Amino acid sequence: MHHNSPDGRVHSTASLPPAPIQRPHSAETFLKRNVFVLMLALSATVSWAWPQQDPGGGSVTETKTVDIVASRFKFEPATITVAQGDRVRLRLRSTDRAHGISIRPFRVRALIPTSETVTVEFVADKAGTFAFSCSESCGTGHSTMKGQLVVLAKAN
Ligand code: CUA
Repeated sequence: MHHNSPDGRVHSTASLPPAPIQRPHSAETFLKRNVFVLMLALSATVSWAWPQQDPGGGSVTETKTVDIVASRFKFEPATITVAQGDRVRLRLRSTDRAHGISIRPFRVRALIPTSETVTVEFVADKAGTFAFSCSESCGTGHSTMKGQLVVLAKAN
């Protein structure tokens, strides 16, 4: 469409810069947003309806500290009793020479030197009675230097 302007020149409306196209929300954006909201709602529903399983041994309840004295050829006390789920902290020292402790089911292994108290920690997540032993060759009675860890099953 052409028309004559006052200065006599011919202008075309088609040459005017195009107005920016108004696209408040494209259909695509709208869809993405709603899918996102829907997934959020869905995951919230699932986690509500499907609570986390209690992982076997249950949650860690408390820290139990036990002092153990090693000497030729025994541990004192020789029996440690804890509850399933306890975090167990053993403080070990020796009165004569270097000994060691190994509690295999709980991957505990430590040297007990004469000069210091050593601390080991683990979670007693399995119930039962577990033997532990000296892990450092300490003399004629080394193989008899043993003890036991009793983990009482959690009630319920
Ligand atoms: Cu104590 Cu080996």
